Amino acid sequence: MIKISPSILNVKENDLENKVKSLDNAGADYIHIDVMDGKYVENTSFGVDTIKKVRKVTSKILDVHLMVRPVQQYIDDYIKAGSDIISFHPEADKNTVDIIKHLNKSKVSSGIAIHPEINIEKFEDLLPLVKQVIVMTVIPGFGGQKFMKEQVSKINQLHQIRKNKSYNYKIEVDGGINNTNKDYCIDNGVDILAVGSYLLSKDKTEYKNTINSLR
Ligand code: DX5
Ligand code: ZN
Repeated sequence: MIKISPSILNVKENDLENKVKSLDNAGADYIHIDVMDGKYVENTSFGVDTIKKVRKVTSKILDVHLMVRPVQQYIDDYIKAGSDIISFHPEADKNTVDIIKHLNKSKVSSGIAIHPEINIEKFEDLLPLVKQVIVMTVIPGFGGQKFMKEQVSKINQLHQIRKNKSYNYKIEVDGGINNTNKDYCIDNGVDILAVGSYLLSKDKTEYKNTINSLR
């Protein structure tokens, strides 16, 4: 069964708790929280306080996507804030293996996120260590961008590597997902869909049907 991870990136701060509760009630499996630092990406978004705030209103899996540089010195703050999964971009820090090992020793699951301009081969040695790999289908930084179809070959590649080597990470796709491109991702082996504007632009009364139709 495909899991849905709504991205709350474009939700206004004062509406955050309400939106998260509605997504929780509508059957979201995860809540995708995009953390941006204005360095790894130009934009800035949520940080530790937002994770704490969201943690208080839902027991769903908090799927934290760090778009920050560097990573290591902040990782304990994100662990303590209540994250369940923390994914980071490995090119944003030189201590990738240490960060993953540290996450694996904590109760938080480790993940890496693959920027559209980076090939899987570059980080293949990390694949046996992580619980999740995010394939980015937009350039990190903003919600509401157009889905980059050619990136889906990475989903297939990760699916094949997992099968051939008996690895057990989950594959998530993130960026521009909607009801017309999700099947292409699912057919190529994705497990989790991060969905921002397509879902969040709808009225909350439509969340449940929309989430179900994406699965
Ligand atoms: C982009 C973020 C995505 C994005 C998803 O940097 O990582 O999670 O917010 O939103 P949509 O679905 O609108 O692309
Ligand atoms: Zn994201």
